[in-house]
Amino acid sequence: MGLISISELKPDMVLADDLSDRSGRLLMNKGTVLNQKYIKICKIWGVIEADIEGISQEDTEAIALKEFDASTIAAAEENARKYFLHCDMDHPAVRELFRLCTLREAEGKRPGREDITPEMPPQAINQATPKKKPSVINPAKFIKDDTRLSTLPDIFRHIVEAISKPNSSAHDIADVISKDTNLSARLLKIVNSAFYGYPSRIDTLSRAVNIVGTKQLSTLAIGINMTNMFKKIPCKIINMKLFWQHSILCGINARIIAGHKNIQNTERLFVAGMLHDIGRLLLYNEVPAQSLHAIIIARNNHDLLYLAEREILNCDHGDIGGELLKKWKLPVSLEDTVRHHHDPQKSQNRLEAAIIHLADVMANATGIGSSGEILIPPLNHDAWMQIGLSPNILSLTMEQSGRQLDDIFESIYIDDNNAQKNI
Ligand SMILES: [Fe+2]
Ligand SMILES: [Fe+2]
Repeated sequence: MGLISISELKPDMVLADDLSDRSGRLLMNKGTVLNQKYIKICKIWGVIEADIEGISQEDTEAIALKEFDASTIAAAEENARKYFLHCDMDHPAVRELFRLCTLREAEGKRPGREDITPEMPPQAINQATPKKKPSVINPAKFIKDDTRLSTLPDIFRHIVEAISKPNSSAHDIADVISKDTNLSARLLKIVNSAFYGYPSRIDTLSRAVNIVGTKQLSTLAIGINMTNMFKKIPCKIINMKLFWQHSILCGINARIIAGHKNIQNTERLFVAGMLHDIGRLLLYNEVPAQSLHAIIIARNNHDLLYLAEREILNCDHGDIGGELLKKWKLPVSLEDTVRHHHDPQKSQNRLEAAIIHLADVMANATGIGSSGEILIPPLNHDAWMQIGLSPNILSLTMEQSGRQLDDIFESIYIDDNNAQKNI
């Protein structure tokens, strides 16, 4: 029996078993010879994997890598292995992530990580670990009223107020959002992108609110505003474009995984993913010396950055991000998910925290963007069990999120050099 991911199905493969959709409805019978049309149907109906004749479990792990010669695979595996230093390689999901990471390495799609911290002194890396006393941070007291970004812009508050009112209509929400023309234009761009994939063009905000949904559009608006807010603050420690690429990719992964779990309002997960590392931006801005110290320690010791943060600061960016969202009075569930994304078992909402955790691990494995971390954070086994999906969800999600990333990134993140083009 060889269960292979839908993203790796090829025409002429033969089903070794009946194939059903997510709700158990039979789509194709055992013995069906696949063609492009059938593969498309599988994708439309959210099928994750199919049992294929003549393919063993070992074959499924080697599939796709067969396209490369042995020396390319060996070099790609060696490179990929460096990132999995802290991962349990016996776990089936980690093995699948490793295979996908190796594939990206072999295809040359996994860029080097040298550009993440543009202003890090080159002599700092590979030198003896700096001796510096840890500076303990109390997350609850870290964000004061005069801390930059401690308050939300008015448009945010108005959006949150509008969605909090039980009787607000789509028209009310559209009215609030339309006061910000830049935001409106960008929201329309997103709802017309591959991210949503609506067949006809949506050209007014009220139609967008009606079609996409009030809460969904509001959470997207919050995400867009967030990148804008942080753009006003120069950050010397991290490459901001890479930071938002990582964050947005995590959000897209989370939204796709949530869809497979039949979670309603998957945009909430998108925003949680987008904000999961927001605490790092605050740390980089407010305590740059200590943040840099943590980065150097992590690099020199091949350690995970969030653990180095705990060592230096006695807390991590999850704690800081959670406090920031609390200060902003955003929903407690969002605050809790962000706070515990590296320890999802501590969350009150374990499934959503587990989804953000997995989405983050996956974003790190693809090597697109970074919030400062170079290595792949270990996958929490309980979180994986909580999500309860097959490892084949990983390649499918990566394939879909890879397709959506450019569109949504261009709509949310405005590069100053391309500002005119993107608005
Ligand atoms: Fe993180
Ligand atoms: Fe992250």
